Amino acid sequence: MSAVFNFTFVPWFRSVAPYIHMHRGKTFVVAMAGEAIATGKLHSIVQDLALIQSMGVKVVLVHGFRPQVNEQLRAKGHEARYSHGMRITDEVALDCAQEAAGQLRYEIEAAFSQGLPNTPMAGATVRVISGNFITARPVGVVDGVDFQHSGLVRKVDVAGILRTLDLGAMVLLSPFGFSPTGEAFNLTMEEVATSVAIALQADKLVFLTEIPGVRVKPLEPESEDNPIDTELPLAAAEQLLASLPSPQQPTDTAFYLQHCVKACKGGVERSHIIPFATDGSLLLEVYVHDGIGTMVIDEKLESLREATADDVGGILQLIEPFEKDGTLVKRSRTEIERDVSNYSIIEHDGVIFACAALYPYPEARTGEMAALTVSPQSQGQGDGEKILKRVEQRARAMGLDSIFVLTTRTMHWFQKRGFVQVDAEWLPEARKKKYNWDRRSMVFVKKLLP
Ligand SMILES: CC(C)(COP(=O)(O)OP(=O)(O)OC[C@H]1O[C@@H](n2cnc3c(N)ncnc32)[C@H](O)[C@@H]1OP(=O)(O)O)[C@@H](O)C(=O)NCCC(=O)NCCS
Repeated sequence: MSAVFNFTFVPWFRSVAPYIHMHRGKTFVVAMAGEAIATGKLHSIVQDLALIQSMGVKVVLVHGFRPQVNEQLRAKGHEARYSHGMRITDEVALDCAQEAAGQLRYEIEAAFSQGLPNTPMAGATVRVISGNFITARPVGVVDGVDFQHSGLVRKVDVAGILRTLDLGAMVLLSPFGFSPTGEAFNLTMEEVATSVAIALQADKLVFLTEIPGVRVKPLEPESEDNPIDTELPLAAAEQLLASLPSPQQPTDTAFYLQHCVKACKGGVERSHIIPFATDGSLLLEVYVHDGIGTMVIDEKLESLREATADDVGGILQLIEPFEKDGTLVKRSRTEIERDVSNYSIIEHDGVIFACAALYPYPEARTGEMAALTVSPQSQGQGDGEKILKRVEQRARAMGLDSIFVLTTRTMHWFQKRGFVQVDAEWLPEARKKKYNWDRRSMVFVKKLLP
């Protein structure tokens, strides 16, 4: 084995450890669009799910089947009909949906049964259990359109799903539900996944979709300057949703986003939209710091927001002890009053317990993150990271390519979060003039574009 391999593998594997510990025992609902299977991604997704499950995560997998049902309809010479972004399930479509679901279940169960030596599935023993966990009701007639056998989730058998997960099995759900009269209803994969995630109060809901996530400027075309927004606070996601046209198809930005917002409002703290086209996207989203798609996160427990003039006192109180011990450079009240709109803060019950400021240098397409502080009693709970993410979002919105920090003591914290050290000469000219060469702060930069 080459020494280079040891040097890369060992630190890499260790860097994943915190995420493995964090997710052990948690429940994830993963919704896989039928398109993922139609485009041949099933086996790699199954391998990743088996790996995630082996690391102690309880997985509920919901599969979609839109293209497969349409294929069956085409084969029967029957037209696929939609209204309000939902399929109208007549007798023929219900038949097609049942056939497609049956076939997909077999394919998925077969994929989870693989175990050939020298493949990622070697030694994986994944039990997949499906069942009648969903009770449905008819959509009925909406605006004069009769949806026939299309249904909505009425109830989720939470106890049944939990018991199955406790057996160590993975729960597999098709977008079908049954009524107390024994009728079958065709549901949407998105609604099943969202309802199940809320009913279970799952830790994550992940949509594996045909879109890469939500872009920073969602209505503008994809470009280097318009990357995927990796983290959307619930309030921002709701605002965005209100500004978007009602979605008609899965590739519309609002389509998966509406379900993420619903799940978050229903108590699922994190919901994700990630692309199935990227190999290993599930692993990248769950076990890598920045992730790959968009995560909608509920921050209702505390409020993360931009500071106003009323917050100056609170900010001063928070940073003062760190100015005294030399961790932070001294800032006067006047200075903070002048720059208060540059600050983002986390507030809980009227007390500010984290802050950071962003000073842009647009001519150099960069910005300085300054005065990053979390109050000592709440350090180590991820608030530092939340405020960093907010500053990154603000910087991206300003069109900056990077952010930098000057630090004398907190190098490792920044390095762990993707910052790399550069020479002080790297600083924008305007900042270099103010650089205190005696303090000998180290400069760390984080690139913001993928
Ligand atoms: C640095 C700071 C903002 C981090 O805030 P936080 O909310 O504790 O950070 P998070 O919860 O997101 O991360 C905690 C992790 O960072 C580590 N950490 C905290 N301070 C660190 C430091 N100075 N150097 C390296 N790692 C540090 C913790 O050990 C913890 O690691 P773990 O997850 O492996 O247990 C906070 O410790 C702080 O306010 N420090 C004093 C002010 C300061 O140094 N600001 C930076 C000026 S440039």
